[in-house]
Amino acid sequence: MNIFIDTADTSELEKAFETGLVEGCTTNPSLIAASGRDFKEVIAEICDMTDGPVSAEVAATDYETMMAEAMVLAEIADNVVIKLPLTMDGLKACQALSSEEIQTNVTLCFSLAQAWMAAKAGATYISPFIGRLDDTGENGMDLIHDIRALYDVHGYETEILAASIRSVDHVEQAALAGAHVATIPPKIFNDLLKHPLTDKGLAAFVADWEKTGQSIL
Ligand code: G3P
Repeated sequence: MNIFIDTADTSELEKAFETGLVEGCTTNPSLIAASGRDFKEVIAEICDMTDGPVSAEVAATDYETMMAEAMVLAEIADNVVIKLPLTMDGLKACQALSSEEIQTNVTLCFSLAQAWMAAKAGATYISPFIGRLDDTGENGMDLIHDIRALYDVHGYETEILAASIRSVDHVEQAALAGAHVATIPPKIFNDLLKHPLTDKGLAAFVADWEKTGQSIL
């Protein structure tokens, strides 16, 4: 499973890409607002950090303006992926952009039917929001399993991009459920490697090695 970082914070992204464990980035209007940065400038900066996919979301809700915005965003860099809301206008734009071989990420997905329609519209990625479904009392991970099953049965090539990730467990379960990608907030990405027993075991190894009085170099 590929890992994207879900942020427009370029300092966090720089650190994440330096690990060599991250394949791309997703942003959305809320993350852009949180960055306090000019949208096109920050997307261009992120696209310079990686050859991987960088999702940039249209702001419009009508087809015509979505398409105009998509053309502006696609011009920023070859690795820009156009993020579109899961609405009829969004899926119409998805079909038009896909026919021009512009990569798309259909977002705000909360049901199997929505994911199915996005695949029929030729979406490159579908972004089911696990955490927000959990917030309503549903089990968001069930949707990942269902989408994977439907896509496999019918041979859709749309990649499942697990989003609205709130914990390390979400990342692990999304990988087990067959998501192609998980887009992860920086803090949760950093937590992936952490375990108290690793810290405790390493401290013990260091202490015992020091007792030997030896040096490898
Ligand atoms: O990529 C979607 C993500 O940013 C939404 O996360 O935690 O606001 O549901 P959250």
